[in-house]
Amino acid sequence: MNIAIDGPSGAGKSTIAKILAKELNITYLDTGAMYRALGLKAYRNGILPTDEVSVEKILETTVIDVVAGESNTLVYLDGEDVSGQIRQHHISKMASDISALKCVRIYMVDLQRKIAARRDSVLDGRDIGTVVLPNADYKFYLTASVDERAHRRYLELMARGEECNEEQIKEDIAKRDYNDMNRQHSPLKKADDAIEIDSTHLDIDGVKEKMLCIIKAAK
Ligand code: DC
Repeated sequence: MNIAIDGPSGAGKSTIAKILAKELNITYLDTGAMYRALGLKAYRNGILPTDEVSVEKILETTVIDVVAGESNTLVYLDGEDVSGQIRQHHISKMASDISALKCVRIYMVDLQRKIAARRDSVLDGRDIGTVVLPNADYKFYLTASVDERAHRRYLELMARGEECNEEQIKEDIAKRDYNDMNRQHSPLKKADDAIEIDSTHLDIDGVKEKMLCIIKAAK
């Protein structure tokens, strides 16, 4: 069984994906973490994420390993555990920019399909229902207002002790939405057969109830 959860950043995809994985005893794969790992590598090497030639070059020698678990995804970049570092605010923009490149998408989609083919899993990302797993058993498109998503991200960064400004986060999220939704290759969009859930006024239990209800009703 495969479950696809797509949507913009900060809508609660990873939180709900982890909960579903635990509840249904299946694997959770955070596909955004993979783009973040490559974004981190480009950042460390001073490569602009828009420089496709250089990115393609580093991709040839890059090994991204994801240990997809029940509650989190550990990401190894060339053997180093970068699970924490990829969450830094400045890496979000790198990940969004680098994910627009065709060579990057081909590499990541192939890796994600291989993982999903091996085990029952829930994948969250931007193109899971449209490109990675168009035949997924269940497809959800989780969204929320920009204000709400920015506020959630602000609280998350504060809890981790990162300096941040809510207005700036809102601006960055809006830019990232625009990038992700308007890129040429695999833009973020709701699959025609995905069920849309707006979590602006819904807590995580509410989202969980809705999704589980749909999954159990179809079984
Ligand atoms: O979900 P996230 O914020 O960790 O993802 C980081 C970036 O990676 C996001 O801005 C877009 C990109 N991404 C993608 O293009 N396709 C995916 N399946 C997952 C993420």
